[in-house]
Amino acid sequence: MAGANFGKPPAEFLWGVSTSSYQIEGAANEDGRGPSIWDVYCRQPGRIANGDTGDVACDHYHRYAEDVALMRELGIKAYRFSVSWPRVIPQGYGAINQAGLAFYDRLIDELAGAGIEPWLCLYHWDLPQALSEHGGWTNRDCAKWFADYATLIGEHYGDRVKRFATFNEPSVFTLFGFSLGGQAPGISDHASLLRAIHHVNLGHGAAVDRLRASVARASIGAIHNCQPCRPAYEGQDNLRAAQRLDAYWNGAFPDPQLLGRYPTLIADEIAPYQQPGDLERICRPVDWFGLNHYSPHYVIADANANKPLGIAFGPAPAEVPRSSMGWPVDPDAFLETLTELDRRYKLPIYVLENGTASADVIDADGDIRDQPRIDYLRSYTASMFEAIEAGVDVRGYFVWSLLDNFEWGSGFSQRFGLVYVDYPTQRRIAKASFHWYAQLIKSAPVYAAYGANASS
Ligand code: FCB
Repeated sequence: MAGANFGKPPAEFLWGVSTSSYQIEGAANEDGRGPSIWDVYCRQPGRIANGDTGDVACDHYHRYAEDVALMRELGIKAYRFSVSWPRVIPQGYGAINQAGLAFYDRLIDELAGAGIEPWLCLYHWDLPQALSEHGGWTNRDCAKWFADYATLIGEHYGDRVKRFATFNEPSVFTLFGFSLGGQAPGISDHASLLRAIHHVNLGHGAAVDRLRASVARASIGAIHNCQPCRPAYEGQDNLRAAQRLDAYWNGAFPDPQLLGRYPTLIADEIAPYQQPGDLERICRPVDWFGLNHYSPHYVIADANANKPLGIAFGPAPAEVPRSSMGWPVDPDAFLETLTELDRRYKLPIYVLENGTASADVIDADGDIRDQPRIDYLRSYTASMFEAIEAGVDVRGYFVWSLLDNFEWGSGFSQRFGLVYVDYPTQRRIAKASFHWYAQLIKSAPVYAAYGANASS
């Protein structure tokens, strides 16, 4: 049935997993790494559940070979990771830390040995603290510092790495870091949010140019978190709040980067921070759209919340199931998102994060039967197959995440991994979902029919 209609040869489809530097590496004070804004933020009382930090995390810095062996066993063809900017340039600009560069050399070589393609993301939120002291993303110079960092990465790894992402989820780290609260650097100021948005966009455009100049045959994109924004309740106010969040969350980065304009609803607010020629600097040709997707948002108008943003997150309808994070589980929203992005930006899409937290426990047999994660992944991949069959150009799918890891404000209290990490011993245990995903990858030639027919 459906399998016969599959949009492109399954062999081209890229199955992978994603991680990020601060969430897994640990080794925060080793081999010359400088502090990042997350090291500082985690030390501020009350910021992170249980006072957790990424100091040790999954100790991936020392256990990367074991982790790559797990990836090989899983059968993935691609691994997305991020480079920690302060590990390779401890002050953000200037002196380079060779020992930091050498860590990613070892990782990339290990991946090559396992036949796994590296997907390197330049920025997954761990800005060097030294730059934050110069205003970080609120300072226009940050785009220049980022471009120089991109050149270093392109020149150093470009012989072995061809896939580069500039930023992971710029809307998330700007909105939560500079307005809504809950993420580093912990600022709540609307002008700072607007400046950060525009400067991150400038950094993106500059980094694309630098990577093209330094890496032959580079394949470049940015990774956006896109989620439908729905009003939580009826009423014009809530509808307007949902549209406003949509502009900030879903439009503020992809629109200028790919269409050369800011969404109408926020263009006037950003205008004071723009200089002539900026949109041309931002809108540089890229090769694909990186999508992270988890859930839809339910939005309410709240004039007193995060002024002048005036939005707050409301509850999902009672009948919508939720994950242990409280995030709604709604695979139709994934189909809707894929379809809309394909229509709007007309680029090949790589799903570079999708997955769920669940309250995993080791049972008496030593197994982790994470059925909620299997159910989630099955229903979301089924939506993706449906999109592909309808002609949406999806080229790959990466699960978040390989390992349980440091989940930002939730610390280690939320587990997203296909592999369980026993933090006191750093022992890795493959969960049932790991075996499920390995099977999905193996059965790829018939996967279009899989979602429809699977019974367990
Ligand atoms: C995304 C982040 C990633 C992880 C997942 C659960 O927003 O990119 O680092 O925290 O959520």
